[in-house]
Order: sequence, then structure tokens, then C-alpha cells
Amino acid sequence: MSQADDPHEHDDAAAASGAGTKPGAVARADADAAGVALAVVGAGRMGGAVILGALRAGGLHAADLGVFHPDPERRAALATRFGVRPLDDAGVHRAERVLIAVKPQSFERVAPLIARRHAGYVSLMAGVTLATLAKRLGSARVVRAMPNLGARVGASATALAWTPETTEDDLRFARALFRGCGTVYDVPENLFDAFTGLSGSGPAFAALVAESLADGGVRVGFHRDVARDLARQVLLATARLLETTDPAAIKDEVASPGGTAIAGVRTLERHRLRFALIDAIEAASERAGELSGNGKGS
Ligand SMILES: NC(=O)c1ccc[n+]([C@@H]2O[C@H](COP(=O)([O-])OP(=O)(O)OC[C@H]3O[C@@H](n4cnc5c(N)ncnc54)[C@H](OP(=O)(O)O)[C@@H]3O)[C@@H](O)[C@H]2O)c1
Repeated sequence: MSQADDPHEHDDAAAASGAGTKPGAVARADADAAGVALAVVGAGRMGGAVILGALRAGGLHAADLGVFHPDPERRAALATRFGVRPLDDAGVHRAERVLIAVKPQSFERVAPLIARRHAGYVSLMAGVTLATLAKRLGSARVVRAMPNLGARVGASATALAWTPETTEDDLRFARALFRGCGTVYDVPENLFDAFTGLSGSGPAFAALVAESLADGGVRVGFHRDVARDLARQVLLATARLLETTDPAAIKDEVASPGGTAIAGVRTLERHRLRFALIDAIEAASERAGELSGNGKGS
């Protein structure tokens, strides 16, 4: 697995997408004729986060992006919400590339509506393999991505895998798209379930830790709001420290001899926090495998 961290990727995205066109009447007319650079099918939590990331990073302009929803009212509302273009069936078919961000269970229903030979697709659906995507979409130009909710604040770790038929432009485009949401890693597809278990699901586990720390704060006498603030600040400070320092070194620095932190660490060891977290990652990875049909239990 390697981190694809090219500082020129935003420029590459602009080139790949035909961006550089400023939003406005002329750009819109061009996009109408040629199709948007990216049609988003499923502008929910994650699809919406990717749209905002792309706009924030500046690789794509609002006029380059469109959202599709089968319900025209919902489509118009989503387009207004993100400030991008509403797309009907024909609009999706004219788009240069399509981002699929619906629930995996919806894919079988959605695929025939958006399938187009030779089109470029990016999917962020958990558990839907490149082979399945290529088969259902009728195009082998498919990039599979696994972001996490951090995309909403530009802090996602996103895994990318792709088919051999994916073009250099497709890949540059996908990398730039997810660089707008955080950091991009090239990951072999056989590690996608593991990546989903740790990174895709991880914000839920970290949030549980934050919630529990806040509960601890309430237990020792803080009001809920203050306890939540303090818990958030602890995680934020630790995340920043982790950018340059090994986790064990941070723990060792805080835990002075006979002090408060080592007393708490001992309690966490007694309650097997490490085991619980290791087991959670394994369970989440196995569940991802079940969803993609690779799992032992499916
Ligand atoms: N959430 C995460 O942390 C996370 C992390 C990694 C990957 N993912 C993946 O991201 C995908 C979406 O998850 P999510 O959490 O963002 O779900 P979500 O918030 O429910 O978003 C799904 C969106 O798809 C729309 N939709 C449903 N049917 C559609 C259709 N036929 N055409 C166009 N749009 C349609 C839904 O619109 P309505 O609301 O009108 O039904 C909704 O806005 C999933 O495949 C998931 O595996 C999620």
C-alpha cells in the first residue's frame, strides 16, 4: 500500500476534468453540450462530502459537477444544497465520469440506469468489487474508493484500487477528487476489506471513545457540554501529536512514575481495551468481506 501524495494533483484534476472553466453562463452552456465532468449518483452523506471536498480543493468548479436523483424534486433540492447542476438520465449519460455513492443494496437497481460502455466510473460503495462494478456497468474503466466520514472535513484516508483498463486520466482524476477529501492511498483490492474495517469504520470507534471519555468526565463531576468539549480536545490534541510521534511514546510521556495516567492505563488494560479494539477492527473487516461475498461467513 502506498500513499499517493502528489502536490500537483489538484492541477491534474483541473486538466483531467476540463476545469479552469469559470462558473457562469458560458461555462454552463459548454457543460450542457459536452456533459459535466462528474455526475454524482447518490449525493448523501459520503457523496455530498466528496462534492464539498472537490469544490473546496478547487480541482472542480460547481459548473463541472452534477447530481442525479430519480425524483426530480429531490434532485433539484440536492443541486441547490451543493450549488451544482441537477442531472436527469440524459445528463448522467452525457457526463465524462460518474461517481457512484448510493448504498450497496441500491446498486443492482441503479446500475442499468447509468451503465455506459467506455464511460469512466468511480465507486465508493463498501463491498462492491471491481469485477462486479465492471460487469454491471458494462465498462472496465472503474476505480474503487474507500473514504471515511473525515471527507466532510478534508481529513479522510481514502483507499483507491482500479482495473487495468482504467486510463491514466481516470486515475489522476480519482486521486485529485479524493485528495480534496484528505489523503489518498493506493491499496491492492484484496486489502479493501481490511481498509474498510480500520479506516472506513474507524470514525465510529473513535467517536465511541470520545463519547465514553465524556461520560467519564460527567462521572467525575463535569457538566455534559464541558465533558464533551474536553473529550474532543483530548482526541484533537492526540491526533495532532500522532502526526509526529509514535502512540507508545505519547502514552509513555504522559504516564509519569506512580502518577495519574499510569493508574488509568492499568485500568484500561484490566478491561482489555486493546483486545476490544483489535477485535472490533477484525469484526468490521470480516463484515466487509461478507458484504462483498469474500467472507468466510457469507
Ligand atoms: N457513511 C460512511 O461513513 C461511508 C464510508 C465509506 C463508504 N461509504 C459508502 O458510501 C455509500 C453511501 O453511503 P452514505 O452513508 O452516504 O448513505 P446515504 O447518506 O444514505 O446516501 C445515499 C444517497 O443515495 C441516494 N439515492 C438512493 N437511490 C438513488 C438512486 N437510484 N439514484 C441516485 N441517488 C439515489 C439517497 O437519496 P434519498 O435520501 O432520497 O434516498 C441518498 O442521498 C455506501 O455505498 C457506503 O458503503 C460510506
